[in-house]
Amino acid sequence: MKTVGVLIGTEDEPVSLKYYRDNKDSLMILKEYGYSMKYIPYDAAIFAEIKKQAGKKIDVIPLFGDDLNLEECNLCDIIFCIYESVYSFMDGGYENYERYMKILKQTSATVYPSPRMQDFIVQKHKYMKYLSKNNYTITPTSYINLDNINIDRIGSFIRNMKGEKFAIKPELGSFKKGFKIFTRPTRETIQSYLQKMKQKGFQHLLLQEFIEEFNKFGEIKTYWINNKNIYSYKQQWIKGEGTFSDETTIDPDVLSECLEIGKSLLKDIERDHEKLIHCRIDFACCLNNEKPCRDFFINEIEICPTIGEEESGGEAYKLLAKQVLSRLQN
Ligand SMILES: Nc1ncnc2c1ncn2[C@@H]1O[C@H](COP(=O)(O)OP(=O)(O)O)[C@@H](O)[C@H]1O
Ligand SMILES: [Mg+2]
Repeated sequence: MKTVGVLIGTEDEPVSLKYYRDNKDSLMILKEYGYSMKYIPYDAAIFAEIKKQAGKKIDVIPLFGDDLNLEECNLCDIIFCIYESVYSFMDGGYENYERYMKILKQTSATVYPSPRMQDFIVQKHKYMKYLSKNNYTITPTSYINLDNINIDRIGSFIRNMKGEKFAIKPELGSFKKGFKIFTRPTRETIQSYLQKMKQKGFQHLLLQEFIEEFNKFGEIKTYWINNKNIYSYKQQWIKGEGTFSDETTIDPDVLSECLEIGKSLLKDIERDHEKLIHCRIDFACCLNNEKPCRDFFINEIEICPTIGEEESGGEAYKLLAKQVLSRLQN
């Protein structure tokens, strides 16, 4: 019998009561693994959906990110990672992240997304440079290596950008963790922040001009399964709270432009790396251009995106599970 491992343990983004009611029978299995039916994280719900679709002929087992071990991974033919390396870093620092990557590189199972692909995406500077090289628009970015800080280069980047506000975001940071805004930064303020981040275990950071329009117009997040767009939404921050508005609130021309770019990017990624089971590509605006607001650029790629069930009414989980199981036959 073939075995599918689903790497979970995020504890994030619980499914709605409606989803629970509609899928009660298949979700019950989660009780065996200590999940409360009152809080079912999205990754556990996806695991349950894969298990349901697999039926009795395929064994589907959960692998828990905070307790990952090679022996268990080797029981699997394929492993689908939802709990990604960023979580391993948040849960236990750089050491834990390295341990996570090492196990996934060593296992005899085929891992989706592959550890190489995960490395590429987690180390944001690598894919940002790839985007530039392939003529995708990104916002001007300076890449900082904390083991080799070149403060003169940082200074000249800031002077060239001419703006007053700058954002620094660390690799392996997520959910805005480690994201900091500097107004009229000086050498000293930057340098002391970089030292602090180094002590926290970060290795690379991205420096960008802080773009006010980013939040004003909202970030357009496009979600894809097997290179097909499933849904998109707009995200904004209001008083520190993330707000979501559905696809219908996005200007149709802007959305179709973003989807064209996304489609082309996924083709390139498939050619140069691998075909992704799923992915989220986030777009933001505007590059020195407020009106008409068409200058959207790629802000981020997520290959293990958090997918709230409500954006697709649970449909995305079904499509995703089908796609994961289809990899078993190949
Ligand atoms: N250059 C920027 N200017 C203004 N806001 C930004 C900029 N970069 C990121 N942000 C804000 O910070 C949030 C988090 O940054 P992001 O690049 O998406 O990293 P992550 O999601 O991994 O934390 C974005 O959703 C956006 O609201
Ligand atoms: Mg983001």
